[in-house]
Formats: sequence, structure tokens, C-alpha cells
Amino acid sequence: MFFQKSFFKAFLIILLCDSILYFNIKESEKRGHDEIKHEKLDLSENKNDLDEIFQEPLIFIGGYVSSGTSLMRSILDVHPDVKCGPEIKIPNMFAQVEKLRENEIIKNATESAGLDDTILKRALGLYSYYIFLNNVDNAKRLCSKEPFNLNYIEFFKSVFPKSKFILIVRDGREAAFSVIKRWYGEKYEFENFLKFLSEWESWYEISYPQCVRTGRDYCKIVRYENLVRNPRETIKEIAHFLDLEWTDKFLKHYEFLDKDIKVSKNEPSLYGLKNEINTKSLGNWIGNIKNYDEKKIREKIKMLEFFGYL
Ligand SMILES: *[C@@H]1O[C@H](CO)[C@@H](O)[C@H](O)[C@H]1NC(C)=O
Repeated sequence: MFFQKSFFKAFLIILLCDSILYFNIKESEKRGHDEIKHEKLDLSENKNDLDEIFQEPLIFIGGYVSSGTSLMRSILDVHPDVKCGPEIKIPNMFAQVEKLRENEIIKNATESAGLDDTILKRALGLYSYYIFLNNVDNAKRLCSKEPFNLNYIEFFKSVFPKSKFILIVRDGREAAFSVIKRWYGEKYEFENFLKFLSEWESWYEISYPQCVRTGRDYCKIVRYENLVRNPRETIKEIAHFLDLEWTDKFLKHYEFLDKDIKVSKNEPSLYGLKNEINTKSLGNWIGNIKNYDEKKIREKIKMLEFFGYL
């Protein structure tokens, strides 16, 4: 029953979102958002405008938690054309909606009514788009940073074919150590460490193949290690990939906190936002994991070797 209830809730949100789009466009106009966006969203006037939204080159940043996604989004946020804004956990509900869409009653009803999968996906895409739009002010290039984004590369690409994706990859041991340190205090036992490493691996098992299938023109893998060791070169490559002009602001993003970089009360990590790009956390786990067993890690976490970290 819970399953069905939450489905209807999720579906209702989508429907609601759809029907209030027009109304809210007027609302956001009052709040001074980019006017072009409103015209595009004026669905009652011209149906083709919707296609313009689907043709926008959105930017999606993702990767395992504590892998530098906040740093990446702060760097892009200082560019005059781009706004990512803080995390809003939108993709977290997608898994639920996907599952619920398999619900036979809904499937039968939507299929019988001639609503195919493309329509349902686009509805979810518009739902996300509308939230992205309201999460930031005046962006030519809307951007979304969520660790989970990259689990949905193919979904977003199917709805927004011109969108681009940045998948941040960091040594899972550093990321796992940071997660434990940040959320679980001092439990640096090996078994605990291994648990987060498995989680790290399962994220990249989902996102990496999607990134590869999407192709280099649309999905770029950025190594956290390269970003902090060679920021200028790495950011240049990223800017080129995203068709953005270089700005020296990229290298001192921390000076634009609360100006270009919108900060949420719920920000998972302020470290990447506040500080100059630095290499301090490289190798943070070394010597800090009780009974660290590299042989076991080699056996169990195959992707560490795959990504060249072992
Ligand atoms: C959905 O449709 C199929 C095929 O028409 C039918 O066999 C099934 O009973 C329907 N399921 C529900 C829950 O209505």
C-alpha cells in the first residue's frame, strides 16, 4: 500500500507541476528571472517552445559523495553563463518513480490512453527543469549538481539530447574515508571502510558505463586528482568540453561565495566551496584505517584497479 501511495504522490507532483507551469512562469517573472526562460515556458501560446527547452544544453555534474562535486559546481558557478546552485536531491526520487511506473494499473492506464514512455520521461524532465530553473537566477546554461545525477545520464540525455555530463571520479579510498569522517565520526575500522568502498564501486558500475555509452562529446570523466593537482589545465579542458569561454575567476571561485555561488543551508560540504583548490585531502586515508588489508580490497573492489588507483 505504501508503494502505491508514494507512487500517487510522485505522480501527482508531476501532474501538478505540469499544470502549474504556466501560472508559475508569471510568478517567477515577478521575481526577476531570465525573461527568455518565461517565454519559452509559455506553453499556452506555442507548443514548439517546449521543444526549445528540450534542446537546451544543460550541464549535469555527478559522482560519488565526497568526490569533489561541490568543488566542481563552485568552479562552474563563477562563470557568467553558468549556474548550478546547491544540491536539491531531485534525482533521488527518480528511482522510485521508475519503479512505480512499472505498476500495472498505471502502465495499463497510461498505455491505453496513448501516453508512451517518451511523454512520461519528458514530463519528469520538465519537472526537473522547472526546479533547476528556480534553484538559480538568470543562467544561460542551467546546471545541476547532484551526486545521483550520473545514475541517470541516459535518462537526461534522452530528454535533453544536447545536455553534457561531468562524471567526477576520485580514488574510492579517499572518498570513503571522507564520508566516514564527515558522517560517522571516528569509525575507521576496515570493515566499515570496505562497506563504503563497495558503495563507491556500485555507483560507478551504474554511471561509468552510461557515460561511456553516451560518448566523449557529451560525457566527460574528470579525475578529482587531476582537478586539484593541475587545476588550470583540467578546468581548461572542462571549459572546452562545455563550450565555455575561459575566465580567471575559475581559479579563485572561493572569492565569489554567496555572490555567484549560491549556498544552501543544507550544503553537504562547504569545504570545496570555501577553499582555494588544494591537494590537502589526497591520500587522506593512508595510515588511518585500522587493519587495512590491500589484498582484500584488490579482491573485492575491482573498480579501484580498473580506474588505475591500485
Ligand atoms: C493490464 O493489462 C493486461 C493486458 O490487457 C491485463 O491482463 C491486466 O489484467 C491489466 N492489469 C491491471 C492491474 O489492470
